[in-house]
Amino acid sequence: MKFFIDTANIAQIKEAKDLGILDGVTTNPSLMAKEGIRGEENILEHYIKICEIVKSDVSAEVISTDYKGIIAEGKKLAALHPNIVVKVPMIRDGVKALKYLSDQGIKTNCTLVFSAGQAILAAKAGATYVSPFLGRIDDSNWDGIQLISQIAQIYGLHGFQTLVLAASVRSSLHIVRCAEVGANVVTCPLDSILGLLKHPLTDIGLEKFLADYNKSQNESQKLKLETK
Ligand code: E4P
Repeated sequence: MKFFIDTANIAQIKEAKDLGILDGVTTNPSLMAKEGIRGEENILEHYIKICEIVKSDVSAEVISTDYKGIIAEGKKLAALHPNIVVKVPMIRDGVKALKYLSDQGIKTNCTLVFSAGQAILAAKAGATYVSPFLGRIDDSNWDGIQLISQIAQIYGLHGFQTLVLAASVRSSLHIVRCAEVGANVVTCPLDSILGLLKHPLTDIGLEKFLADYNKSQNESQKLKLETK
């Protein structure tokens, strides 16, 4: 399972990359706005900056909602860098645009997916990735993991090549559950990735190992001094 980070924050992207486990980045207009990146030129420059850091897939979302607009914007984004994946919303014109962009060999990520039916359409249109928003589904009292599992099962059964990219991840447990049910990719906030590191028994065990090591070093030093 690949690990993407879901942010436009350069420091966090660098931190995840430094950990050695980063396979890509996803962004969306809200995440760009959160970082204060405004104006088309600055936004495009920011995508290039991210691509140069991660050297792997970076999802950049279109803001157009009509077929021609999505295509034009998608082409412009794809031309920025070979690692750009054009993120297209799951709407009627989006599905048409996904098909067109996929046929042109442009990588795509179908976003705002909340049902298995939408995921089937994205796969039929040839999307490289499909992004079911599991956290937002949980927030609305439905079972996000169940949806990830259902999509993974359908894709496996029918040999769809579209990769299941679990999005809107809210916790480290979400990541583990996504791995269990067959997501190909998880895109998460840095905290959820770092949360995977944590277990109190690891901390207690390490503390004891180091204390025992130091104790035996001190004892051997003491013995050396006594035998001199
Ligand atoms: C997906 O690519 C989106 O950027 C993201 O995962 C949405 O997450 P949120 O529900 O936490 O906003």
